[in-house]
Amino acid sequence: MDQLPEAEPFRIKVVEPLKITTRLQREQILKNAHYNIFNIPAEDVFIDLLTDSGTSAMSHYQWAGLMTGDESYAGCRNWYHLEDTVKDITGYPYILPTHQGRPAENILTMIYVHPGLSAISNMFFDTTHAHVETKGGVLRELIIDEGLRTEVEHPFKGNVDIDRLEDTVRRLGRDQIALILVTVTCNNNGGQPVSMENLRQIRQVADRYGLPFYLDAARFAENAYFIKLREPGYQDKSLREIAREMFSYADGCTMSAKKDGLVNIGGFLALKDEKKFRLAQQYLILMEGFLTYGGMAGRDLEAMAIGLQEVLEESYMANRVRQVHYLGNQLLQAGVPVARPLGGHSVVLDMKRFLPHVTQDEFPSEAFVAALYLDSGTRGVGLGHLAFGGVDSKTGKTVYPPLELVRLAIPRRVYTDNHMNVVAKSVIRIYEQRESMKGMRIAWAPEVLRHFTAHLEPL
Ligand code: F0G
Repeated sequence: MDQLPEAEPFRIKVVEPLKITTRLQREQILKNAHYNIFNIPAEDVFIDLLTDSGTSAMSHYQWAGLMTGDESYAGCRNWYHLEDTVKDITGYPYILPTHQGRPAENILTMIYVHPGLSAISNMFFDTTHAHVETKGGVLRELIIDEGLRTEVEHPFKGNVDIDRLEDTVRRLGRDQIALILVTVTCNNNGGQPVSMENLRQIRQVADRYGLPFYLDAARFAENAYFIKLREPGYQDKSLREIAREMFSYADGCTMSAKKDGLVNIGGFLALKDEKKFRLAQQYLILMEGFLTYGGMAGRDLEAMAIGLQEVLEESYMANRVRQVHYLGNQLLQAGVPVARPLGGHSVVLDMKRFLPHVTQDEFPSEAFVAALYLDSGTRGVGLGHLAFGGVDSKTGKTVYPPLELVRLAIPRRVYTDNHMNVVAKSVIRIYEQRESMKGMRIAWAPEVLRHFTAHLEPL
């Protein structure tokens, strides 16, 4: 018998109407936003692929969980539920709630990163990057070469280059290294997974030199799913078992639950080391709030405890990744330069190949993002020179990031395949007219994290 087509393992109980704008209106909206997609009111966006962060649709179990919120300052019941859940999934004994991922990163880097010390990653997400930098740390991104080449197929393009890791540690000396922090999946190159083998090898290097090794676990469940699909020996294991093994190799993790926690706000820091935990507690109380709520309402803790379990259900995850790949495959079939293999949470377009005639100075990613919004009201985000490049404060020279990408991140359980069809058609239409496209210039930009607020102008 033929297999039935796959379908969503949920039905829709509440809908949120979307506003339809005209091209003429979008022209004006773009102008008002200084051609910076972050400045566009979300209501003026038809399909919002800016981020998969905090944009998930919650299940009715999560919504019901909100009603059980215990808003006591200390020791609310939802905290114990969350703590038990996180302990069970990660195996880590010490858990601290934070209102999203970056406060956890802030606390972790406050503990480990001191001026001049190096922090090593496959690739740092931009907030982690900034947290290391503002503490005077030196960033070393040691992703495998394949990870930076969008046209090369490799099952685990988030992997750390173990030879370079070993070499870097030996060259710098253990005392010059703050920590290793590996992002699973690696967001900056499109949600590319890290293999279990790689995590095991990083652990071995960390043990050999006595280095702390943490995970940025924002998309840990998607990473576990790719391990199940692609790494020998894991086909018959559950996502929960795989995740538990991933966590076992690290000394702890930072977590933005706005991704694989299936919530709109939330996060945590988890550790194995009791001394570091005691120190982290002090920072938490100072910056986030008491130890049993960490900047969240009790109801938010409950939604997170439930979401962290739902994300490990295989029917959920299979459908999630299927939809991302449904969009990606339409673009690949039309010859659009999309990073391969397709990742976990997003489809990534390579602007160096999409708009080869627009140099990185002319912000091809932002030019494309503006064109996509104008064409279909779809919002993506540029992850290239505007976001990661800049001027070296010592040499005064412009530094270009290796990748110039546009990310179309798919919110979890939010859009249907029909929305993906609209996005695909719109991207393909722009691709067909790419030769006539021009770049952008900066009219104004702040010094730090400039892409969020910069003003741009079309050339
Ligand atoms: N780590 C990774 C890998 C992330 O992707 C993010 C956020 C964070 C940490 C920070 O977490 O936002 O909860 O403070 N990524 C979002 C994105 C913003 O669009 O990819 P946060």
